[in-house]
Amino acid sequence: MHRALEAGSSPPVTDRPTRADWLVDALGLALADAQAVTLTQHLYRTLRDWIQSGRLVRGQRLPSTRQLARELRLGRNTLLAAFDQLVAEGFLATRQGAGTFVADLAFQEGRACAEPIAAREAAPPSVPCSLSSRGAELLTYSGILPQRHAAFVPGVPALDRFPQALWRRLLRRHLQHMPLAWLDYQTQGGVPELREALSDYLRHSRSVRCRPEQILIVQGAQQGFELIARLLADAGDEVWIEEPGYNGAQACFAAAGLDMMPVAVDEEGMSVASPARRGCPRLIYVTPSHQYPSGVTMSLARRLALLEAAERYGAWIVEDDYDSEFRYGQRPIAALQGLVDGARVIYVGTFSKVMYPGMRLGYLVLPEPLVAPFRRANARLNREGQYAVQAALAEFIARGHFSRHVSRMRECYRRRQARLRKALAPAVAQGLALSAGQAGMHLVAWLDEPALERTLVERAVDQGITLSPLSRYYLKPPGRPGLVLGYAGTPEAEIERAGKWLALAWCESRRG
Ligand SMILES: Cc1ncc(COP(=O)(O)O)c(C=O)c1O
Repeated sequence: MHRALEAGSSPPVTDRPTRADWLVDALGLALADAQAVTLTQHLYRTLRDWIQSGRLVRGQRLPSTRQLARELRLGRNTLLAAFDQLVAEGFLATRQGAGTFVADLAFQEGRACAEPIAAREAAPPSVPCSLSSRGAELLTYSGILPQRHAAFVPGVPALDRFPQALWRRLLRRHLQHMPLAWLDYQTQGGVPELREALSDYLRHSRSVRCRPEQILIVQGAQQGFELIARLLADAGDEVWIEEPGYNGAQACFAAAGLDMMPVAVDEEGMSVASPARRGCPRLIYVTPSHQYPSGVTMSLARRLALLEAAERYGAWIVEDDYDSEFRYGQRPIAALQGLVDGARVIYVGTFSKVMYPGMRLGYLVLPEPLVAPFRRANARLNREGQYAVQAALAEFIARGHFSRHVSRMRECYRRRQARLRKALAPAVAQGLALSAGQAGMHLVAWLDEPALERTLVERAVDQGITLSPLSRYYLKPPGRPGLVLGYAGTPEAEIERAGKWLALAWCESRRG
């Protein structure tokens, strides 16, 4: 017989439902596993284990034996026998008319029914974590910036200026009219209309040589780099990478086990002719339109030398054209990919800057021989998807919203950069060097001491300001000290506040 709980030792009865849903399923699974023992024994042990481990918490009401018998298709006597034993041993308790509860057990101190299940699940018992050496190395390139929208987080566009209402309307329409076929696995390389709209745009705006068939839609540039690294290089192969360079690309190549060779960047961009102990690269990663993070544009002579080197080594150039839409005053520079016929260049584009990073859409423009293998590998490794979003984006581009948004953002970023320069003017007057800012979404402030870089980065945290240390973008220490100041995603008033603080802090450092 079930032992009735004495008054005073009653477990807290709460309004929480019995959560019979998970419990019935979980018991069903556990019982399916019963082999050597009787069902009663198995049921008894399972419930006892769950109580001891805290999966069932004190005060938690169990479904009735009648309900469990019905749902688990068991004889009620089997359940009654297990429950009786648990009651007899003090794991369960019953209260007349109220049901059966997990008893108030000392080892469950602090775990109560009122404690939300999510809270318990958020703190699972710790599992030993041993990463692969590639995984561990990847993490060294994977700092996550705090305060996403504070000044001066780099790489974030003006999300507050994104035409959300229009975008939602387009999305809604394309979701409503989504063909049944789009629910299936996709292998087309992306929605054809998007690839067509993109190839028009790239041919006219970026002088990229491409047909829609050469475009592979991926979930952002990052995924593009990963595919390239996996398909075109083996672990231990050499990849040349700009120094300083983009941490995202560095992380990808590290995760692929590639041997990264930093190649210095000067005022003309990366120089493949510079003397260095390098071998034969499989990949060469560059940001020629607007070097990340230094902001320089690669000269024509360097571009031609780079194309020639790729040809000589049989290497693939990875051209990351991440923010070339935003040029101020200067005419857009044509992409490296379009400079010569049959160049060994994979052009990588992203919608993270011109639209928003959460969209997770980017694309590769592949030389003809790489189209089929990349499409197949992408469909296998990453799976294609988001066709409704892609279709909405195709319409956004085809109807001219994209180019209007880019023009508006260009104006907005030009204003924001001017605001930042004005706020930093007192420091510049005392010798702080800023990058030219002819393009893009950030400026670099060059510093001459690593200690100052550290101090400013640390002091800025208290002000709610994120300063990205330039030295972190170098593969080979010591990197040149400086600060990468993203201004695109920061509202003007915040740029002014944070810029003035930085100018003052820098001027103080001169005096001290
Ligand atoms: C140099 C560079 N390339 C590419 C990207 C875009 O990456 P994704 O398309 O994966 O968002 C970024 C984003 O910050 C970047 O800074």
